[in-house]
Amino acid sequence: MNAWTNNPAMYEPRAVEARQAHGKVGAAPILVTGGTGTLGRLGVPRLRDAGCTVRVLSRRSRADGEGIAFVTGDLATGEGIDAAVEGAAIIVHLVGGPKGDAEATRNLVKAASRTGVQHLVYISVIGADRVPLGYFKSKLGAERAVADSGLPWTTLRAAQFHDLVLTVVRKMAKLPVIPIPGGLRFQPVDAGDVAARLVELTLDKPAGMAPDMAGPKVYGLGDLARGYLQASGKHRMMMPVRMPGKAGRAYRAGENLSLQGADIGKRTWEEFLTERVHASSDSRSRGASSN
Ligand SMILES: NC(=O)c1ccc[n+]([C@@H]2O[C@H](COP(=O)([O-])OP(=O)(O)OC[C@H]3O[C@@H](n4cnc5c(N)ncnc54)[C@H](OP(=O)(O)O)[C@@H]3O)[C@@H](O)[C@H]2O)c1
Repeated sequence: MNAWTNNPAMYEPRAVEARQAHGKVGAAPILVTGGTGTLGRLGVPRLRDAGCTVRVLSRRSRADGEGIAFVTGDLATGEGIDAAVEGAAIIVHLVGGPKGDAEATRNLVKAASRTGVQHLVYISVIGADRVPLGYFKSKLGAERAVADSGLPWTTLRAAQFHDLVLTVVRKMAKLPVIPIPGGLRFQPVDAGDVAARLVELTLDKPAGMAPDMAGPKVYGLGDLARGYLQASGKHRMMMPVRMPGKAGRAYRAGENLSLQGADIGKRTWEEFLTERVHASSDSRSRGASSN
């Protein structure tokens, strides 16, 4: 595993000026799709602070501000995409959802191929080619659309973000007894670490498939849930269950993990929980009556 940390030197004024002087970044905007999401909100200011002119695509109309311009469009319907990609030197494509990523990406690629885009950067998920679930298949379809686009590209596959794991374990903790599918392991990674790595890849040469990016530790789902319960001061029983079918087999075989050669984010699940979950407020605001 390659330990990887965000490099603050990238954002020093002299480094920014040098990049601008060498034409690596500058007036031609970088379009960020999904720039309003969990990952995008962390990546967009980093791109701006690295000296880039940033344009963000959103389905909702938003006011420009803090050095960020917004364009309105929808990658699912194709509405507004031509205007969004117009004049963009680089596209960082972060749009994602439970389904439809392949089609959204094909729509984006079609529009981008008609312009002079020099680098298309895409965020995918570890196991896109190995886990037989709709989300993963859709990410694989999107990866293929990027690779077959004819545009210079970089794709980074990341593990599940801490934010997503937190959403899942919070939902599970609403149950009186938490079912824990045996053999499921995760390598949750901090979205801030992924955002910083994406900025680095964006400002570098197109690299094709970049090394995967995962978090610093591997956890069973029960460990992740226990960490959350402890941080939020709750008590729940856990019940082992078996995840059936092909997806269960793939997870038990660790097909969602990247145990060799991955870039490793710095922030741990425990550090994330310490900052994001406060025992008293989490149990009060989420109405946990049976601690
Ligand atoms: N979350 C994870 O654990 C994880 C792990 C690995 C990879 N990834 C990938 O990382 C990317 C970002 O994930 P995230 O968790 O930051 O996502 P998120 O918070 O759910 O944000 C989704 C973003 O996509 C935009 N979007 C959705 N549908 C759109 C459409 N039809 N047209 C235009 N924009 C659309 C939304 O913008 P508006 O609402 O403003 O329109 C929003 O900015 C996704 O591609 C995801 O698959 C996520």
